[in-house]
Amino acid sequence: MGSNEVMIKIESLTKSFGRIKALDDLNIEIKRGELLGIIGPNGAGKTTAIRMACCILKPDFGDIKIDGISIHEDPIRIKSMIGYLPEEPNLYERFKAKDLLKYFAELYGVPKNDINRRIDDLLELVGMTERKDDRINTFSKGLRQRISVARALVHDPEIIILDEPTMGLDPATANSIRDFVRNLKGNKTMILCTHYMAEADSLCDRVAILNKGKIIDVGTPDYLKSKIHGDVILKVRIQNLDVINIYKEQIMKFASVAAVDFVDGEYLISLKYRNEMSDIVDLFGNNVNSINTKEPTLEDVFINTVK
Ligand SMILES: Nc1ncnc2c1ncn2[C@@H]1O[C@H](COP(=O)(O)OP(=O)(O)OP(=O)(O)O)[C@@H](O)[C@H]1O
Ligand SMILES: [Mg+2]
Repeated sequence: MGSNEVMIKIESLTKSFGRIKALDDLNIEIKRGELLGIIGPNGAGKTTAIRMACCILKPDFGDIKIDGISIHEDPIRIKSMIGYLPEEPNLYERFKAKDLLKYFAELYGVPKNDINRRIDDLLELVGMTERKDDRINTFSKGLRQRISVARALVHDPEIIILDEPTMGLDPATANSIRDFVRNLKGNKTMILCTHYMAEADSLCDRVAILNKGKIIDVGTPDYLKSKIHGDVILKVRIQNLDVINIYKEQIMKFASVAAVDFVDGEYLISLKYRNEMSDIVDLFGNNVNSINTKEPTLEDVFINTVK
């Protein structure tokens, strides 16, 4: 960690599929040892961008340099440097789990003496030791995902790119994958695409928000959270819903109020500061059902930025 060396440099990356512009002049640098999260709505271009970094898809324009090597220059070398978990892993159905990992370990040139230990460690990590002799086609969705994670890591790559690694996993397995990623932090350069905002928040050094093929913001989770108005969100649930518009007008008159939303019977009031909180609550009088406050989360950032 602490190195300022650029490991992945994405330059003017542009790609269209017919009339759809999947990536629109994308630029970002990722430092050695950094974990960059990419979040963004469905169809934003996350998977397209990382498929290009993995040399599976070519850009219309632009370049990605991995440790100084261009994707146009030496895709085979780049592929060997990257462990990639695709969005929809394509596994060899008839292989036994351990044989699949062995096959990829050999393909990637893992030293013969290391292969068995490496495979055992990975099977343990993803909780698949007991299923190692079963065939892939007998596995459930989540078990396939676990084997795919192990496959991505089998050659101990310098760079790890994970496209929604915990999607479809039970909470305990998802947590063990997150712990594993956390343990690698600093030693590997990583990109993580996810729709789980708490996952991005807890794991990533920086998070890029991608929308319509462009990065609309990037920074540490704290920086992104601090940018959405307010250091606190006041949540007021009311009983009588007939008067919501009148309240809204009155709430907006307070100088501390940055935004007001009404969702599922509850006001979400973003405050720039806390001094007026009790005066705002007083507005509702006896019509209050419950009052809560919460700190802004990355989910709030997402919803605010992408809307
Ligand atoms: N092979 C393809 N042919 C045609 N259109 C494609 C292809 N791959 C991606 N697209 C389109 O490009 C856009 C970006 O897709 P991409 O898969 O990169 O999005 P994403 O951000 O990964 O979304 P999600 O969160 O749903 O995984 C979408 O509009 C998608 O339909
Ligand atoms: Mg995707």
